Amino acid sequence: MNDTLLACFQAAPGEYVSGEKLSRELGISRTAVWKRIRRLEESGYRFESVPRLGYKLIGYPDRLRPEELLPRLAGTRFGASVKLYDSLESTQNAAYEALVHGAGEGALIVADAQTSGRGRLGRHWFSPPGKGIYMSFLLQPNVPLARAPQMTLLLSVAMCRAIRRSIGADATIKWPNDILIGGRKVCGILVETILEADAVKAMIAGIGVSANVGRDEFPEALRPIATSLMEAAGARVSREAVIGEFFEQFEALYELYRSDGFEPVKTLWEALSSTLHGRVRVNTPQGVAEGVAEGITTEGALLVRDDAGVVHTMYSGDLSAPAVSLPT
Ligand code: BTN
Repeated sequence: MNDTLLACFQAAPGEYVSGEKLSRELGISRTAVWKRIRRLEESGYRFESVPRLGYKLIGYPDRLRPEELLPRLAGTRFGASVKLYDSLESTQNAAYEALVHGAGEGALIVADAQTSGRGRLGRHWFSPPGKGIYMSFLLQPNVPLARAPQMTLLLSVAMCRAIRRSIGADATIKWPNDILIGGRKVCGILVETILEADAVKAMIAGIGVSANVGRDEFPEALRPIATSLMEAAGARVSREAVIGEFFEQFEALYELYRSDGFEPVKTLWEALSSTLHGRVRVNTPQGVAEGVAEGITTEGALLVRDDAGVVHTMYSGDLSAPAVSLPT
């Protein structure tokens, strides 16, 4: 049905098509036409509507362009096996499938939209078409399971630096996996670890960035806590350029991590963190810990000193209140 509707506009490029004509051609009411136009707008098409004239198609969904993306990945381990999709349930699932079918480190899956994008703790990840970066890739760092939390921090540093370089915004990292601009989340990171005989077979690194999402395009519940690169930059951003910048940063950090271990990454993470030295409340499967975030361990866990002076080591969890810096 949407194809027929789009065909009506493609037959009259740059012209208004009346609601009456559309309703006749599609055999549906004018209200039903309006609803279909709304649905197309939600998937990235843009229309101008003028009373008595009708609708004019003025924009198509933004598509990731391989010719823009691939050259930016050359020289990194992520350029050799790249798959780009218009839409997937979740790039995490596609990366897992690739692993099962023999793909190795560096295999990269990117989608223009996700129908069941997921975040940590089983949450839904808002993934509208053409407006975000949704990608997952395989890593095989050959580390014990205890060091798995380090990877989230490594990825956060790379994305935080990539955002700073791409749009000049003062992006910071909120432990364990969020990148914030102005206190609002712009990127989430999800690392899923695949074990084989108790050893780490691979990690699936998933990154979601709200790139060109307008303020009023976020679902209402997200509006107070989310932002986009476009909102921070005041102009649309090239998603291909941000992805390229991320992999350039990540490649260098990953090499450093493999040669010198976590310590240099930890120092970089600390410098970009908006969590450290602030008061935090961490929800974990074991309960809630409240206190001051004192540091991270060599394994990448967060150390929280509670008001009784007891230090808690948090391997995973959720900061329920934004980290607020203490006055110095
Ligand atoms: C979070 O903040 O909870 C993590 C969000 C991770 C979202 C990304 S989008 C690409 C990849 N595919 C998914 O389904 N999730 C991750």
